[in-house]
Amino acid sequence: MSVICQICGDRGIVLKNEIAVPCSCVKQKRTDKIYRDSRLPKKLLGCTLDNFNFKYYANNCVDLEKGITYYELARLAFQAAKNFIADFQKDPNADGLLFTGQVGSGKTFLACCIANALLKTRQGLLFAVVPDLLDQIRFTYDPGRGPDELTESGILDTARRIPLLILDDLGAHNYTEWTRNRIYSIINYRLNHRLPVIVTTNIVLEDLEEYLGERTTSRLLEMCRPYRLLVDLDIRVIRRKERDLGNPAFPVGRSRS
Ligand SMILES: Nc1ncnc2c1ncn2[C@@H]1O[C@H](COP(=O)(O)OP(=O)(O)OP(=O)(O)O)[C@@H](O)[C@H]1O
Ligand SMILES: [Mg+2]
Ligand SMILES: [Zn+2]
Repeated sequence: MSVICQICGDRGIVLKNEIAVPCSCVKQKRTDKIYRDSRLPKKLLGCTLDNFNFKYYANNCVDLEKGITYYELARLAFQAAKNFIADFQKDPNADGLLFTGQVGSGKTFLACCIANALLKTRQGLLFAVVPDLLDQIRFTYDPGRGPDELTESGILDTARRIPLLILDDLGAHNYTEWTRNRIYSIINYRLNHRLPVIVTTNIVLEDLEEYLGERTTSRLLEMCRPYRLLVDLDIRVIRRKERDLGNPAFPVGRSRS
């Protein structure tokens, strides 16, 4: 194996005033592992509270249900994310959060703000996109898979026990009894062990039960404080227009095809 660390020659320790101390590469390797294990896609590493832009949330549109503007809703959700980051570092059993809202309203962005802030402080977490997680579990039944591939219990165990689980896109998919049971077993374990979950979903609270079933919904609502993010226009569409405006090769309104 080739030597990587120029400081310690990959021994992991260096001498400081004639005392052996861990080399900086050991800390770096641990940090790298925490990031790798979190499964947070590289593309989402830039989602930070500092980069959260409030301009996408209109202050002239009112959420009739809550009687406050979209901008105020975003403020509340943002503050909840900020509080969670601080609370979780003091209390690993802090209450989780549930972000609801339309497509392209910043739910995943905000959940990733939490992930990125906590990864920086080297907290263990798992960012799981629900449909991918379910596919991964399904794949464990594939007869063609290799002996070194993850097992169903391995995947479920990680999702159950990780200090913080982010379930992204617990959306309006076609849940079967089988997928519902997997989700239930993760949520139920975490509730019993008071381990927080951050959830993003397109489903409005009133419809959660229809998709996830009564038992999972009831538990999620006990574990998570709900916040809504609303926009009058999908942020992806606005950002696409912003990019096109900044790129004279693709003036707005002109097809790229
Ligand atoms: N407040 C924000 N500030 C800056 N960029 C944002 C903000 N909210 C969202 N974005 C960007 O807009 C796009 C859509 O956001 P995001 O993926 O968070 O939406 P979503 O609500 O999770 O949508 P979906 O329901 O489709 O999963 C992403 O590229 C994201 O980086
Ligand atoms: Mg999303
Ligand atoms: Zn080293």
